[in-house]
Parts: sequence; C-alpha cells; structure tokens
Amino acid sequence: MKTNFVPSLWIVLSLLFLNGLAGFTAAAQNAPAANAQLASRELNARVEALLKKMTLEEKLGQLASYSGGYATGPGASNLRYEELVAKGQLGSLLNVVGVEATNHYQHIAVEKSRLHIPVLFGQDVIHGHRTTFPAPLALAASFDPAAVELVARTSAEEARADGLAWVFSPMVDIARDPRWGRIIESAGEDPYLGSAMARAFVNGYQQDDLSKPDSVAVSVKHFAAYGAAIAGRDYNATDMSEITLRQVYLEPYRAAVAAGAATMMSSFNSINGVPATANPFILTQILRKEWGFNGFVVSDWGAVAELKNHSIGDGPTVARKALEAGVEQDMEGGLYTTVIADQVRSGKIPESVVDEAARRVLRVKFALGLFDHPYTQPSPAYVATPERRAAARKVAAETFVLLKNDAVEGVGKLLPLPAKVKSVALIGPMADNPNEMLGAWSGMGDPKNVVTLKTALAERLGDRLLYAEGCGLLSGEDENVLKRVNFNGPASADEHLPIPDDAKTIAEAVETAKKADVVILALGEPTNWMEGEASSRVHLGFTGAQLRLEQAVAATGKPVILVVLAGRPLELKWEAAHLPAILEAWSPGIEAGHAVADVLFGEVNPSGKLPSSFPRAVGQEPLYYAQLPTGRPAHGDLSHLPTDSGEKFMSRYMDEENSALFPFGWGLSYTRFSYSTPTISRAEVPVREVLGSRNGPVALVGVDVKNTGSVAGTEVVQLYIRNTAASVEQPVRELKGFARVALAAGETKHLEFPLGFDELSFYNVEVQRTVEPTTYKIWVGGSSLATAETELKVID
Ligand code: NOJ
Repeated sequence: MKTNFVPSLWIVLSLLFLNGLAGFTAAAQNAPAANAQLASRELNARVEALLKKMTLEEKLGQLASYSGGYATGPGASNLRYEELVAKGQLGSLLNVVGVEATNHYQHIAVEKSRLHIPVLFGQDVIHGHRTTFPAPLALAASFDPAAVELVARTSAEEARADGLAWVFSPMVDIARDPRWGRIIESAGEDPYLGSAMARAFVNGYQQDDLSKPDSVAVSVKHFAAYGAAIAGRDYNATDMSEITLRQVYLEPYRAAVAAGAATMMSSFNSINGVPATANPFILTQILRKEWGFNGFVVSDWGAVAELKNHSIGDGPTVARKALEAGVEQDMEGGLYTTVIADQVRSGKIPESVVDEAARRVLRVKFALGLFDHPYTQPSPAYVATPERRAAARKVAAETFVLLKNDAVEGVGKLLPLPAKVKSVALIGPMADNPNEMLGAWSGMGDPKNVVTLKTALAERLGDRLLYAEGCGLLSGEDENVLKRVNFNGPASADEHLPIPDDAKTIAEAVETAKKADVVILALGEPTNWMEGEASSRVHLGFTGAQLRLEQAVAATGKPVILVVLAGRPLELKWEAAHLPAILEAWSPGIEAGHAVADVLFGEVNPSGKLPSSFPRAVGQEPLYYAQLPTGRPAHGDLSHLPTDSGEKFMSRYMDEENSALFPFGWGLSYTRFSYSTPTISRAEVPVREVLGSRNGPVALVGVDVKNTGSVAGTEVVQLYIRNTAASVEQPVRELKGFARVALAAGETKHLEFPLGFDELSFYNVEVQRTVEPTTYKIWVGGSSLATAETELKVID
C-alpha cells in the first residue's frame, strides 16, 4: 500500500466513522447508548413499579395518540383532549407546539391525572424546525452525513425549546420512483447512502443520550417499504421478494435501529399481502427479535383504523391484529381506546399484550426525562439567528447538483458567473417565491424568513438585475390539478392561482431576457400539495406554462442557466438538449437565494451528487442504477451505461435509451478531478475471513484523486462493487463507500475504502446474509458511471 501513512489512516478512520462500518452485527454487539438506556434496569424498575399501579384504561391511554393541533392527515378527531389527559387516557399529542400550549396539557397530565404520567409531544420535524434547511432528498445529495447530523441537531434544539420531545423523522424509505411525491422526504434510491443518512439523522436528534435536555426521540418511518408503492401511487401496496425487502428496503431502517432509534412509525402500505401496520413478520420477527429494538412503534395517521379497508377484519379484529403484531400507539385512529378493553376482559387478548405495549411507551418517556422534567422552560427563540442562517446557507449550497455546464459559443462556460457580469435577467415563478423555497414539509418554517433568489441577486447586482415572473407554477389548463392542489379551500388557493394570461407574461419575460447578457431561469413544481404526501404525479415535467416559458426565452438566443427548484427528479430531456447550464437546487430552505447565488457566482464550488436517477422519460420508472442483470443486456453487462447497440432482441426500449438522463451519483464541479487506477491491499481473501470480519475490513481499496483544474473543489468519491458469481444474482453495481474530499487546485489525495462483511455480504436463497467464493469488480469514481477498476477475489 502506498503513500503517507498518517493522512490515509485518518481518511480510513473518518470513512469508518462517517459511513459506519457498524452494520447490524457490529451494532448488536456494541449497542448504542440510547438503546441501552431503554433497556436499563433502573429505568425498567421505574416502569414496572408504575405499570403495577395502572388500570387497564390507563394502560390503554398510553397507547392513544391524537393530533391536538392542525391536521396532517384526513379527518382529525377533535376530541376533548384536556379531559382525556386528566383521566390519564392519552399517551401522546401531535401538532401541539410551543411552550405555552405544551405546558398547558402537561400541567393537566402531571397535576390532575391520577398517576401523573406526562404526555409525549411530537411533530413532523423533517428538515429543520424553525430554521428550515433543504429537504431530505437534497440533504442526501450532499453525501455529507456530518451536515445531516448538524441539521438534525439544530432541529432537535429548536423542537425541544418548543415543547416537543419527539420528531417524526427521519423518513428512511428507499424511493426508486419519482412519481411518488414523498421521494422529497427520502434519501433517494440507494440503501448504502440511505443508511448513512439514517444514522446521521438519528445521531443528530438523539445524541446517543435521550436524557439530554436538548435530545428528542426519533420516529423512524415508515416501517416498512412504503417507498415501493406500486406505480408510484401513494399509499398503494408493495410486493417484492424477501431478499429485495431485506437487502434494499430494510437496510436504512436497520441502520437507524442500530443507531438507537427510540421509536418507529408503521406504514400505510401492505407488504406481500400483509398490511405493514398488522404485520408480525416485520414488526415482531425482524424489528424486535432480529434487531433488538427496545422502543415503541406508533401507527401512521389513522393506519390502524384503515386496516379495515385492507379487508383484514372489522374494527375490533384489526385493532387486535395491529396491537399483537407490535404497534403500540394508535395515531388518530381511536380504535385502541374503544375496542381493546372488552377483548382483554373476554380473554381474547391477554392483558400482557397491553402491558408490554404500555411498558414500551413509558420506557421512552422515562428515558427522555419527562417524568423528572415534564415542562418546557421558556428560552430565547432559536429562530433564524445569524449562526443558524449561516449553517442553512452552507448546507444548502452543498446540496446543489450541477447537472450540466457546457461551453456556449463565443462565451465559454456560463458558470460560474463573473462578479462583473453586466446584466442578468432572472425569470420564472420560483425566482421570488418564499413559500416554495421551504419545501413540502417545513413544519414551523416561516416564509418571512426566506431569502429568495431575487433578493439575493439584487443584493449583488443592484440595477444590473432584471426580473420577470414569466408565468405561474400552474396554468389554466390544469383545472383538475388545481382542484386537488387547492383541496383546503381558498386560503391555500391564493398561493396557487394560475396567472390568467400567461401568453402576456411570457411575452414580457422574453422582452426582459432580450435586454440582458445572460438569463437565469428559476423553474420547478409547486411544493405545497404537489410534492410530498398524497402528491404522486404521472407527468414529471415542469408544471403549468413553464415549458412554454423556457422555450420562448431560449428562442431569444440569450445564454440560459436553468435553476431547478423541485423536490423530485423531474424529466428534463428538453432542457438537457437545449439549455447549456442546469443547476438542480431542490427545495433549499430559508437561505435559498443566498446559497444559489453563492454557487452561481462560484464562491461555492458545487459538490452535490444525485441521490436519485433522473429519467429521460417517465416510462422508465422505476429507474435506478443498481439493477439486476438480464440475460439479454442491451449495453454489455452494465445496463445503466448510455450506449445503445440497436439490436432488436435485447432488454431495451424501442423508443428510448435504458440509461438515466443524469445517473445516480452524478454531479459536476467548476474544476475537474482525475482518478488513479484503484489498488487493492490484497488480491484474495478466504470466505471464512470475510464472514469473521464483522468488526473490521478484510481489504482496503486505495485510490489517488487529483484536482486537475485551476480552482479548489470538493469531490464526492464513490466506490461501487459488483459480485460477479453469487448463488443469487446481484446488482450490476452497488455503492459501498463514499467520501467528500476537498482538494486545492492541483492537489492529490490518497483515499482508502474498507471492504468487509458489511460491504461484501448478500442474502442467499435461504434469506441468510452470507459471503461466497466469487470475484468482486470494484470501481472508484465520481458517479455510478465510474470506470477506474480493480478486483477482489474471495476464495474457498
Ligand atoms: C402522515 C404521514 O404519513 C407521516 O409521515 C406523518 O408523520 C404523520 N401523518 C403525522 O403527521
């Protein structure tokens, strides 16, 4: 192995830390403190002592969860929560936020209820609480677990100061189909990246110590495989082999549990015919028995009652099935409190089942310190302090992905823009739209805190900036869409009223473009109610009249930079063919404008990489790089590579390429990076050594990465493997390592990536995780198209 020992050791150590060699086996041996807290003898003695004093109704009360504020699902129950709390018949409240509101209920719980059991307050804190950071899909594009941990830490501090001790985050569902609107809440298509993000979120929120006054308990969601909804339609069934379930979909949940996740949320979908919310296989067998989960599971909103629609029984039956399967709290369903007691009294449900559920809920409350410190003290509001704004700006800029930056004749590359640029026309419905910058699930995020692109560019350019809105995000032809988007009535309709005469506004935008040297088009899709939950789409282009707008502006011949502000991979085929520069900026949060401007003007060199493949056409979906092989590959053995043999009887489309328009891991920089041929620390390793390597690597892949350009930049170095001879066929490529590496112009760094059981194992036909004799092809590079190659043989 070559070069200076100390830096490479450091990089290995940080790779181990960031990307977490700690897989399930290592984690089981080395349980995180948060998980141990829930299992502690002292804590459980307090739980048991309390449990002994509780009536059946009081135990069932701990299993009830209601929304005491705004609705984040259909038909909120609007009960008299004060009464329930006073009677000890309410375990947790969601969507009650703020010191005053939470303390109000807590005083009733602690002072008026018989056993003084505090209420657990929870909310959807998804990508920031008061300080809104980029949406989770964007955060995944940073490939930066440390940044994600910072986001979660900041969110936890703000949430706890607002009376919340429980967040419904992280969402770790693997999402391979952007028709599914909730892809914005996910880390995208890859289980390795998704697991790294899951760990980072859990660590940031819980700090591996639930008792700290600024820790919050996570609720990892949605267990399980919710992101594999058939046809990308939200809430739809999922159906897949157990091998795929375990090897792909369950991985990030497993990583989150191994990091000590205190609670989980069951999902709405069925898995292979059994609804997730009444699924003993995933909730009991896998979660509790295999993974050793000590916390509790809350259902998703109304999911217990919705089991009736899954046709697995009437109210009492589905409530029993959910409870016995391992769903401890019934969120906004009200079934547990109404139909379980009789079944316990008649002997149909053993009381021990209710005891176990109440025990698990109480454990989390004790671990969070709620019994000892039930109230929230007023503290200075954490809203958008300069430090937090700076963090939001820095993180956002790291998430942007430069998709394209081609040279324009006579001008050269459009990006980065020179500070002295004479005039810029900023055009588009996303250019000055604070609401849209917050993303689909910004909770307490406030549009008043948002810096738009127009504001940020005006700060830099003054009257060198020209502006035209161009069109709305929706237009007249979207009547049905409009009805669905504005289901909440006129208040939200205001935001999404189409501009009535967009032919006129487009013509105005064209005139504005003509007056400028360069055009920045800021386009996207409406985040509110068109991205996120219940927001599946079958058309993945820009909404409304935006395509007409960009075509009209491009026809002026002015050089155009497109900034895409959207929470899902859109179909950008026309744009990729006709516009020279494209920056994917997702839903960037409160510092949107500053962060985009930082990257456009080159103060920050873009370093984000795609966590999700961008399609050429919706018909390719679900599209992901880690495909299984086919006997008739159209493109050699790497079906994601953009070559096309044109042969007929091959696995291909007649009217489109197989490959992604922009593949997983893709992202350009203002500089260039070159890779040496990777080395492997040993050519062969025996199977038994890999099987025994659960705590450490068996081999190291080394590579030199050089910044060959003239400016500093950060590269996300990615390592992919392919198992070429397994008893169960394996994907054509799988990500098994990554690292962000900052390189000055001309600088070279040596990196080493560990390979051990976690990276090399897979599930065999007996669904056992194993390693067999084989050869692994290994690639290292800047995207899933990496070509620098080495190999490792695993021998008998
Ligand atoms: C439904 C969503 O699916 C889930 O993600 C969310 O946490 C709950 N509602 C609570 O708002």
